Amino acid sequence: MSGNPDAVASDAGFALRSRVAVSLEATAGALASFAADLLLIPCCEGEPALPGDARPLTKPLAPLLADRGDRGEFTGKANQLSLADSQGVSAAKRLLLVGLGKRSAVTAETLRQAMGKAAGLIKTLGVPHVAVPLFGSGLGKLTPAAAAQVQAEGLLLGLYDFNLYKTEAKPPVKPLGRATWVISDRRQLQAVRAALERASIIADAAMLARDLGNHPSNIATPSTIAELARALSAEQKLRCTVIERAEMERLGMWALVGVARGSQEPPKLIMVEYKGGRADEPPIALVGKTITFDTGGISLKPSENMEQMKDDMSGGAAVLAAIQAAARLKLPVNVTAFLPATENMPSGTAQKPGDIVKSLSGLTIEVINTDAEGRLILADALTYAARLKPKWLIDIATLTGACGVALGKHAIGLLGTSPALVAALKEAGEATGERAWEMPLWEPYYDQIKSSVADVQNVGGRYGGVITAAAFLSKFVGETPWAHLDIASTAWIDEPRPYTPKGVTGVGVRLLIEFLSRQRGGKASPRAGVRPPAPKAKPARARR
Ligand code: BES
Ligand code: ZN
Ligand code: ZN
Repeated sequence: MSGNPDAVASDAGFALRSRVAVSLEATAGALASFAADLLLIPCCEGEPALPGDARPLTKPLAPLLADRGDRGEFTGKANQLSLADSQGVSAAKRLLLVGLGKRSAVTAETLRQAMGKAAGLIKTLGVPHVAVPLFGSGLGKLTPAAAAQVQAEGLLLGLYDFNLYKTEAKPPVKPLGRATWVISDRRQLQAVRAALERASIIADAAMLARDLGNHPSNIATPSTIAELARALSAEQKLRCTVIERAEMERLGMWALVGVARGSQEPPKLIMVEYKGGRADEPPIALVGKTITFDTGGISLKPSENMEQMKDDMSGGAAVLAAIQAAARLKLPVNVTAFLPATENMPSGTAQKPGDIVKSLSGLTIEVINTDAEGRLILADALTYAARLKPKWLIDIATLTGACGVALGKHAIGLLGTSPALVAALKEAGEATGERAWEMPLWEPYYDQIKSSVADVQNVGGRYGGVITAAAFLSKFVGETPWAHLDIASTAWIDEPRPYTPKGVTGVGVRLLIEFLSRQRGGKASPRAGVRPPAPKAKPARARR
């Protein structure tokens, strides 16, 4: 087996990964004399002075900005773009004005979006090298390095295209190969370089998850995903173990095996271990639903939009990508990722509504609906992961259509048994723009999943579908502090967003990386990049 993940190909000969090869650089110097194909000029709405290191260009660009403003072409509104020639004020060939919105409303997320939007235009322009001014301290309450990180994330994620299956010649424009942050204060160089390195690892991880989700199910099968996990693990020197069906049966994972019964593709329980923390420290366990295609099984789904069910492995993709990033970032934590992987297919051997399976935990499950398969495979994977006695147990899954009904397409459903863990995930979500919203796991919801013939049933009726699914999962985690992220409504979008094209979003990857980065004093971002508030004067008495 080769250690090169790009060499991993499916049986059909397609590579499983696309790569955006953009080198992110930082250099000290004056912005105006820096030569590039395109210079980005960030502008705050209603503010003539340009922010950060672009400030010296305020005066020379004032006529251009006034003119574009008068015509209503460019006012600095968030995500607005306007191209111009270099006006003789810059050594760059062209300028791209990028609106950041009102200064007071700038956040890490609005910066990602503005850069993502710029990336969407950049990839059509044929500009191999862009220059970006560094923001001064304070914009969006971010340090310059934290701002550079989120800008770079937005740029890289915004350049992403999934075109591995298009055989026609690529559009004849040169791709972006370099982006250089030009910095007036060379003391910032080192911190900015580190931030750009982090951004590139994080964006790589999110794009790996997008790739895996976007691949169709004839290419991304449990077997090819296992092979990719092995190759990626070899590259990062991580331990990767794959449990095959015979071993699952020997262990008693009948809930997982039951879902796989309808499919010709063998199921895999893929495990990856990263040890960046102390040897005696319990790991953080990440479990990701990896249904490579969800037809619903015998409880067959309607065919409209069924093709989107190739993304039902987005949870697994997220944990695989996050553990890769944890290793590349050398985070001081121990992490184990679990990917229970199978198809959910109807066939003569498929499990049927009413079947009863014994889970690894010993609890018996009545399978009322074979389309509620995610919770079945997670039940066994959670029990297995909980046996490691992890510090935290987190699962992430495209679990319920009900999540979209409850929260729409802008929030991850969040539930758990540990308030501290739930709070930490919520904060990580806010920092990364992958926001999660907590729902209650109250006792009465458990009545909805009582079975008349087994210990528990796999559906809870019409109401509160996100919660009853999570209530079901909670029965398999024992006393381990656990939280669940339902990404069913956020894993796929039909309408492109500033740094996310239509299709699979890679949601959850950046949230998980951020969460892991915040463990044990690891370097987090961008919260760690937020300047601490000035210390308050101590009360007179304490000052004595
Ligand atoms: N993979 C689906 C959930 C899903 C639905 C994800 C729509 C993305 C978009 C899951 O396995 C499922 O089918 N859940 C059922 C559960 C129901 C039978 C209780 C659902 O949500 O309809
Ligand atoms: Zn389903
Ligand atoms: Zn599913």
